[in-house]
Amino acid sequence: MNARMLNDRSSILSLLETRRSGKPRELVGPGPDPEEMQRILAIAARSPDHGKLFPWRFVTVGDDQRDTLAALFREALAEEDPEALPAKREKADEFAHYSGELVVLISAPVENHKIPMWEQQLSCGAAGMNLLFAAHALGFVAGWVTGWYAYSEHVRQAFCGPGERIAGFIFIGHPARELEERPRAPLATVSRPWVVPTS
Ligand SMILES: Cc1cc2nc3c(=O)[nH]c(=O)nc-3n(C[C@H](O)[C@H](O)[C@H](O)COP(=O)(O)O)c2cc1C
Repeated sequence: MNARMLNDRSSILSLLETRRSGKPRELVGPGPDPEEMQRILAIAARSPDHGKLFPWRFVTVGDDQRDTLAALFREALAEEDPEALPAKREKADEFAHYSGELVVLISAPVENHKIPMWEQQLSCGAAGMNLLFAAHALGFVAGWVTGWYAYSEHVRQAFCGPGERIAGFIFIGHPARELEERPRAPLATVSRPWVVPTS
């Protein structure tokens, strides 16, 4: 292994060990340009996927489409939560206009397939994680959120086909302030050697 490969490896490890999400509402632009976005999505599409079904899709929402997204959220609220307080409507409007670029991650499983639905959904999660890593590797910060927007049938229909659902809204930009680390699971609580059950 040469010095460059060693250096590359240590940068990759450092990225894996230090990456953390940014809160989408706190991100500032600019997000990735079209070329960078293609690179991020190509990396996200290189995700483990039993059966090569590609059970996920990425929908990019352009800056010029944010007003339309906000209008969609307003319609969804009017239909599904007509009693919503004005604050909820305002928050939805802000959400639609968060800075940076927006990718809507869609879970697109193949139904009635021998590969279980659960595995296809796990693959979608892996694609989302890869997308985050790719964004961070290119010097951006990303944040994956769902909120009510991802569970609204009205919003779902605007992004998804039959059997598909929104896995999340991933905003990619730059942090307005230094990101603070958040608590991580102590390894001993989430990892242990297998204890063979005794009968
Ligand atoms: C599927 C999914 C949905 C999420 N939805 C939300 C959300 O709606 N609101 C929120 O504040 N955080 C949400 N999060 C958590 C944020 O992404 C959170 O900032 C992130 O997990 C921080 O961890 P990290 O620093 O290791 O990336 C979600 C995470 C995942 C994986």
